[in-house]
Amino acid sequence: MFVATSLVLPGQIVVLVLCCLPGLGRAAREAHGGLSSGLGSRVLWAVNAGGGVHVGAHGIRYRADPLNGKIGVASDYGTRLPIMRAWPLDQLLYQTERWSDHSFGYSASLPGEGAYTLVLKFAEVYFLHSQAKVFDIRLNGMDAISNLDIFSRAGPSTAHDELLPFSVSGGRLFLGDREGDVPDGPSAAFNGKLHIEFVKGEYDNPKICAMYIIRGLPQDVPPLPPLPSTNESPQSRDGDKRIADDDEDEGEDEEEVEDEEVVEEEGNKKESTRQIAAPRLKRVTETTRRGVESGPRVPDPYASDNGSLTFPVLVAFGVFIPTLFCLCRL
Ligand SMILES: *[C@@H]1O[C@H](CO)[C@@H](O)[C@H](O)[C@H]1NC(C)=O
Repeated sequence: MFVATSLVLPGQIVVLVLCCLPGLGRAAREAHGGLSSGLGSRVLWAVNAGGGVHVGAHGIRYRADPLNGKIGVASDYGTRLPIMRAWPLDQLLYQTERWSDHSFGYSASLPGEGAYTLVLKFAEVYFLHSQAKVFDIRLNGMDAISNLDIFSRAGPSTAHDELLPFSVSGGRLFLGDREGDVPDGPSAAFNGKLHIEFVKGEYDNPKICAMYIIRGLPQDVPPLPPLPSTNESPQSRDGDKRIADDDEDEGEDEEEVEDEEVVEEEGNKKESTRQIAAPRLKRVTETTRRGVESGPRVPDPYASDNGSLTFPVLVAFGVFIPTLFCLCRL
């Protein structure tokens, strides 16, 4: 797939340059933001949780978080770290987030019947181990993802997108499977809105970095850039540079990715569905791992307090007082 992308991309640029010479700036922008897909116009709703208005990769325009000042905490803790596996324009999306020590959620109006895909963007920027932040996600009251553990899915500070296909028909909202098919999956009454709920469990708080809804299937959602260790694509060179130093820590993640690919081959699934297939597999492996553990862990989310202000305040004083001292002596 990566080979294919690198062949296709120059072609796209050539076509763009030939077709719209006056729009050269646009072509250049799109090439820089990743793949040009005209996706921006098909996005019905997009939110930069815990942050402000932001235009990300593929021209998607995220609105400011409507929950600002209402529930939970808007955190930019992640801005101190680069996010692996995210397009440059999407870095900020993954670096800001909303978390809350109670369940919280968003509602989006949908234009009516049809197939949709919800894209949920996550990156673990705080915890350095799995089984720290674990939570569920519900759509209109139905379990869509159970026990999401972002760290165990993607590792630290790495983009992880969950794709949730669903469709609206005959006054009901149906959860889709990974192809977006909705044969007789779970359904709930539909009142014109999609309700996305991040459910607090016994582990650390639920959170969300950014999300959007498109009209279409998961195949229509552009994939994340390839993992640095497996990439041959010119688009991921930035990513290479950024995390070159962390490469040694990546052993576990690589293993997990290989697992995912094996399953993909077995199921004869297309590469483009890999992100959707992964969560299911992961949940299976998580369960297995938990089963092997000797006893239940006692989760104590408050053991690691969020004293993130202490350090900046100390630094500020450390700079301020000597400066004042020098100024007074002049
Ligand atoms: C601490 O902050 C992180 C990063 O914003 C957040 O994910 C986590 O839920 C917070 N935990 C607690 C216990 O406050």
